[in-house]
Formats: sequence, C-alpha cells, structure tokens
Amino acid sequence: MSEFPLEHLSPVWTHLTQIQPVRGEGIYLYDADGNRYMDFTSGIGVTNTGHAHPKVVRAIQQQAEKLIFGQMNIVIPPPAVALAEGLNRVTPDPIDTFFFSNSGAEAVEASVKLARQATGKRNIIVFRGSFHGRTAQTMAMTTSKYIYRHHYQPLPAGVFVAPYPYAYFYGWDEETTTAFCLKQLDYLLHGQTPPDETAAFVIEPVLGEGGYVPAPAGFLRALRQIADEHGILLVADEVQSGFGRTGKFWAFEHAGIVPDIVVMAKGMGSGMPISGIGASRALMEKWEPGTHGGTYGGGAAVSLAAAVATLDVLQSEGLVENAAARGEQLLAGLRALQGQYPAIGDVRGRGLMVATEFKDAATAKAVQKGCLEENLLLLTCGTYGTVIRWIPPLVVRAEEIDAALAIFSRALAKAA
Ligand SMILES: Cc1ncc(COP(=O)(O)O)c(C=O)c1O
Repeated sequence: MSEFPLEHLSPVWTHLTQIQPVRGEGIYLYDADGNRYMDFTSGIGVTNTGHAHPKVVRAIQQQAEKLIFGQMNIVIPPPAVALAEGLNRVTPDPIDTFFFSNSGAEAVEASVKLARQATGKRNIIVFRGSFHGRTAQTMAMTTSKYIYRHHYQPLPAGVFVAPYPYAYFYGWDEETTTAFCLKQLDYLLHGQTPPDETAAFVIEPVLGEGGYVPAPAGFLRALRQIADEHGILLVADEVQSGFGRTGKFWAFEHAGIVPDIVVMAKGMGSGMPISGIGASRALMEKWEPGTHGGTYGGGAAVSLAAAVATLDVLQSEGLVENAAARGEQLLAGLRALQGQYPAIGDVRGRGLMVATEFKDAATAKAVQKGCLEENLLLLTCGTYGTVIRWIPPLVVRAEEIDAALAIFSRALAKAA
C-alpha cells in the first residue's frame, strides 16, 4: 500500500476515502491489511453483480485468451452480436437494435446525435437536477450541481431545462408536483423551444446524482404522450437506474412506458467500461451510416463479454427480483429510523436505488462519516448534498442489509 497515494494522481479527482482496495468480493472490498469494507456504493452503481463475480471474471479471462479487440468498422466481433441479442431479450418492443460505446456520457451524446438526425430538429429538453455526464454536450445537459460546469461555461446551446417532479423538494404531494411540472413543460414548449424545434426529452426515470428521486409514473406517462403528440423522441437515461438496479430491468418499466431510446452504462459491464443505446430498427435506420462511431465501441471484446456475462448473472441468479425484495427491506428499515430521527426528512426509492434525505447537509455528512468509521461505504447526492444514497450490489443478502441498517442507526444516534 502506497504511503502517499495521491502524489502522482491529478488533484481533479475527489476521494471519499483513502482506502486502497486490493481485492473485491460480492459487496465487500479488502485492503492490503485485510480490513473489510461493506461497499454500499457499488462504485457509483457499477458493480450490480457484486465485486469480481466469478462468472464475469471467467468470461473476461476466456475472452481475453481468444480475442481482446476487433474494430467494429473493420470486423464484427462475435460478443457484440451476442450482447445485442441478449439486450434484445431484456428490452421491450419495439427496441431491438443497439449501438455500443464506452462511458455513460458517450452514450448520452450518441442518443442526442441520433435524435437530432432522426427528427431533423436540434433542441433537447432535460430536467432540473439531472446528471448526464462530463463531456461538453452532456455537461450542458447536467444541472445536478454547479461543480460539474464550474468555470467551463458557456456550454453548447440548444439545451432547455424543465423542472423534475421532485415532490419532497417542492413540499407537495406527487399529484400536485406532477401537475406543476407538466404545466412548466408546456410553458417551455410555448415560450422557448417549440415542438417543431425540439428533438427529444432526455430524462432519468429515477433522478440519480440529483437526489435519488423516482419520477411519478403519471409524469412519465404524460411525457410519453406529449412526445407522441408532437413528434418529440423520449430518451430514458438509464445509466444509473438500469440493469436491475430498481427491481425491474429498466426503471421506465415501473411507469409502463417504453422510451424511443434507452441509454445504458455502469451496471452493464460489472466494472468493464462499456455503454450503449437501444432503439427500434426503424429509428436506428434514420442514423446515417458513418456519422457516429468510435475506436472501441462494439470492438472491445473483453468488455462486451463481461456485459454478456452480466446479463446472464442478473437473470440466472434472480438479482432483479433480489433488488426488489432487498429494496423493500431497506425502505422499511429506513422508514422505521425516520420515525425515530426527525433529522431524516424523506425516505424514498425503487429497488436498491434508495434515498434518505436529511433536513440539512451537515447531518447527512456526519452520518456518512459515522458509517465510514464502521467500514460502511455510502455516498451522498442531491444539489444541496442532503441525501445519502443506498446503492449496494444487487447480490446483497438480507442479513447484510440488516447489518448496514444497524451501522446507520448507530451513526444517526451519534450525529443526532
Ligand atoms: C444518469 C447518468 N447518466 C450519465 C452518466 C455519465 O456516465 P459516465 O460517468 O460513465 O460518463 C452518469 C454517471 O454518473 C449517470 O448517473
């Protein structure tokens, strides 16, 4: 273990801890001294199958021995075909055609490029508090915290921001919040970006970095309807909420809608860098060949094989169902604690994408620190840093949820 780990690393990275894990297994990380940490961050929603799942490790090893890379514009790597077939099986009709890239931001950018070409329109409507990435285009679409655009502005134009239906923020019930947000969206479509200039709505079905807020089903259904009425595409950014995280394979399924484009990354490769978008064949055929692509997307065979294995593990081990059940257990435990500690303002979530929102950021930070002192890793989120997010690997067991709740409860008592 290096004594000065930061000496040659860029200070642009922030670090929750100085832990240097040498091994990961399931929900645990281990350092060189054998200390064990419960990872309830999943590396920000990446290790849905747990750290180093044996089936994913084997798939990576076997693929690396056969073929590491086959450039998609030159050849067609078999794992790319297998992954597209696998994704077709877990994605509702008419989404049946897939494009692959490396990071979440890259995939969001791909969705915007496809939407612009397919509709012949330029403007994009996003929702306040969203996080879509750190490239120039996705920075312009990100409003979760100013830090992501600090001293980088001005950013690309053509991005318009409508309010996200965040009921607790407004202090209203979901119905009132939904009605307000739809009215504001209509106002935007009349005042700033008319439907004939608007290519897409891009929305996180569960707001991630912005505070772990599930959009009410009624809001997503209304959005689908407005999109259809006006020839606007609906893009679901499922980078954080996809791959079983919310107790359904895709979070949009909770609302019974199907987006025109689904954006995926993070949980997709169990830690290997891979992302993608899915759409109907008819929509994908409106994307002019050669106008988008990349060196590695669709060609990084080891990442593709990891994603194929991830799909297999999620399904064969019932991890989506486990996310739903463990999520209920976690919500019930947190609601009980909310009854004891008035510092907790709200408990919400879907599956294992769960939030405890505190009335102030200092308490959230103190509780997070208290948990860290007992080797439980938790992240905060939200524009004001008031939310502790719960995002354990989907392999988490009932007794591990109980253990984490016990640590959280002691940290709450200490912070109160
Ligand atoms: C919803 C959402 N979209 C996009 C991104 C960007 O992904 P990446 O960091 O892989 O570029 C993230 C990352 O946190 C995300 O949560």
